[in-house]
Amino acid sequence: MRRLACLASALLLAACATAPGRAPTLYEQLGGRDGIAAITDRLLDAFAGDPLVAPAFRHVDIRRYRINFTDYLCQIADGPCHYTGDSMAEVHRGMHIDEAAFNAVVQDLITAMDRQHVPVRVQNRLLARLAPERKDIIYR
Ligand code: HEM
Repeated sequence: MRRLACLASALLLAACATAPGRAPTLYEQLGGRDGIAAITDRLLDAFAGDPLVAPAFRHVDIRRYRINFTDYLCQIADGPCHYTGDSMAEVHRGMHIDEAAFNAVVQDLITAMDRQHVPVRVQNRLLARLAPERKDIIYR
């Protein structure tokens, strides 16, 4: 009887050890803050070669952008970061961004995530969270 009880508790322990834990956050799936910073770096590379985007960044403080954009993505992905910049509407006010430029940035982000080996389903999770920002960014 005692052996049966031991066997039962051993099976229970094994089940606990292999039971799936909580689902990973998007932040974790993106590789944490380091992974997100690497995506931002690859995004900046893609911007530099994109004629629809590069001119807008000609006079931007890239060091500051790199920190703030990484914090922004980190926060939107439920990471432990705090984006301290202005709202999307304020940041992009006066830039007169049209759909073509917006789509170009989204495509550059996809390129950056591909180069960072982010799985497509994870890319789609991030893009779905950015989609609502579109209305605050274009035609400002
Ligand atoms: C998915 C779309 C986009 C998102 C999520 C996004 C997000 C952001 C964020 C978080 C910042 C703040 C960075 C900082 O404080 O330095 C920023 C700045 C900026 N964005 Fe966007 N953006 C998007 C689309 C675009 C597009 C389409 C353009 C133009 C082609 C653009 C041009 C800029 C520029 C020039 C700045 C720097 C502003 C400055 O430092 O004065 N963005 N963006």
